[in-house]
Amino acid sequence: MFLKNCWYHAGWDFEVTLAHDALVTRRIAGESLVLYRKPNGAVVAMEDRCPHRQAALSLGRKEGDALRCMYHGMKFAPDGKCIEIPGQTRIPEQACAHVYPVVERNNCIWVWMGEREKADPALICSAVPLRDSPWHMLPGKMHVKANYRLEIANLADLSHLAWVHERTLGGSTRYAEVSPKFEITPRGLNTRFWVRSVPVQAAVAHLFPPGAHVDVYFEIQHTVPCNWILHHRVFAPGTAADDCSGGELLFETWTCQYVTPRDEDSIDYYYCWGPRHEQNLPGLSEMLRDTAEAAFIEDKLVLEAQHARIKEKPHYPQISAAFDAGPGRMLWVLDNLLKAEAGESTAHLS
Ligand code: FES
Ligand SMILES: [Fe+2]
Repeated sequence: MFLKNCWYHAGWDFEVTLAHDALVTRRIAGESLVLYRKPNGAVVAMEDRCPHRQAALSLGRKEGDALRCMYHGMKFAPDGKCIEIPGQTRIPEQACAHVYPVVERNNCIWVWMGEREKADPALICSAVPLRDSPWHMLPGKMHVKANYRLEIANLADLSHLAWVHERTLGGSTRYAEVSPKFEITPRGLNTRFWVRSVPVQAAVAHLFPPGAHVDVYFEIQHTVPCNWILHHRVFAPGTAADDCSGGELLFETWTCQYVTPRDEDSIDYYYCWGPRHEQNLPGLSEMLRDTAEAAFIEDKLVLEAQHARIKEKPHYPQISAAFDAGPGRMLWVLDNLLKAEAGESTAHLS
């Protein structure tokens, strides 16, 4: 059910710290991991399982750049090799904890869950960093008790802004009427669409004159497993061509959202959102972060209840509608990659 040859977002860089010898636990794609930072700053991601008797290494102790299991005291180097067994000198070759490739990029910790030799950093999704960029991004995180395919479907179809996010990100039923342009990529889906002459989105409506209308352009890169990067631009109505040229740009933000499945029934949702530094008037980026959190709680309520219904009746018949086009494409890309990993032949979308 999970892609293995894939970079998973394992947390923000500030969550894995040198302070207090912190060991951080994660559950990613059905595997238990312990993360820690070596004294030189590099992050180690090790299976949270001692190869001796499966004690959790996250209950262990950091010793320099190594990790000691605090059950019987075996000590593991950051490459997973056992380097000490108390009370004996011979160390069996198989005394080795599994270690996952890690890359830190754009203030995100990325962990590769598959074959080590295929861990290509070029496959990490593009993103806006939290620091040192033209954008003032504030991060957040949420746990959602739903299968990650439901999150994929949610993010690949923004018609739900009209309904789920009526009082936060939406504010018009026009969001449910758009016809996005899709482009399937080798590991995801690019989506673009205009919503023309709509009321200003609910969360920022108070920044505009009462009754103001705007044109909004969404440009989204969605990649496996479920990383979602949105460039969001708001224009004075009727000023911008379809390619955005000539438009009177009123407001512009980026948001990056990373959905990491823990297991079949839950995910960790990492997100950040922000305006340009020069547009970041006091309180604006905090308001966007709070709006994102409020909106994702709206999604969480819907998806957790949907997940529970699906568990009750997994084979309940479904019907399709026009707004399923994005989810259908993104899940098709995911399923093709899953089949390829399983050695099955893949299909072509007609
Ligand atoms: S379980 Fe870790 S040393 Fe025994
Ligand atoms: Fe949503």
